[in-house]
Amino acid sequence: MSDGSLIESMQRFYNAIARRSPDLAFINYGFVDHPDEPSDDLDLFRMCRRLYETVLEPFPVTAGTVVEVGCGRGGGARLLLENKPDLRYVGLDLSAEHLDLTRRRLEPRPSTHVAMADAGILPIATGAADVLYSIEAAQHFEEPERFYREAARVVRPGGWCLLAALWPPTRLPDAPLASAGFHIVDRRDITANVVASLERTSDLRQELIDSLDLPERFRPLLLSWAGVRGTPSYDNLATGAMKYVHYRLQR
Ligand SMILES: C[S@@+](CC[C@H](N)C(=O)[O-])C[C@H]1O[C@@H](n2cnc3c(N)ncnc32)[C@H](O)[C@@H]1O
Repeated sequence: MSDGSLIESMQRFYNAIARRSPDLAFINYGFVDHPDEPSDDLDLFRMCRRLYETVLEPFPVTAGTVVEVGCGRGGGARLLLENKPDLRYVGLDLSAEHLDLTRRRLEPRPSTHVAMADAGILPIATGAADVLYSIEAAQHFEEPERFYREAARVVRPGGWCLLAALWPPTRLPDAPLASAGFHIVDRRDITANVVASLERTSDLRQELIDSLDLPERFRPLLLSWAGVRGTPSYDNLATGAMKYVHYRLQR
């Protein structure tokens, strides 16, 4: 694994937050199906889970090997593996604390493994994965194009890659994904659905950040990372300076 400073900072950041909030099963911006319809549903867990359902369903295989890059705390893996006994799962992440939470969340299910890895160097044999997926992690990767190439190496011909993350609208990864060897089966802009989730959960996200008891000087960064209303991360999505996009790709 590279020991670049971005990777180390990312590890420290997610480990520190995981130690203070181990009960959160998901750590993403969430998804709302009908962003224009008023709703008083403020269920953060449900919206985060809905993001996973949206990206993964319909799941392309019922048996075989699945690799998740940036598995976080394992909430998504647990959801995926329910009622799919013939899937083998490998969860990869930079954060040891996240991997530990994923391991515990999946126990005692057989055929599940977690490992520390950077998205740019996947510890998976060529062509070994039937499906590789990654949700709200690729925006963090130091060299996203290297990840696309690694994903294409790891997924078998005819296999699938399901990818959701944030990109600037002028730098959507269609071309690098295609040159890595993926065919874009579907590309969906889900920015409005994600912004609606952030809008509804903003107060809760702010309360969560305040409960972490991290040094005050980190608060603006943390609030923005959590997508709280009025922060740069929220504004970038709300104004379209960043897009949240879901790709279904085939090798
Ligand atoms: C916003 S969280 C999303 C976690 C999970 N997918 C979810 O939605 O709950 C981003 C995750 O990506 C991981 N991550 C960041 N950079 C990474 C990298 N270069 N390689 C692998 N994982 C990385 C972080 O440790 C973190 O668990």
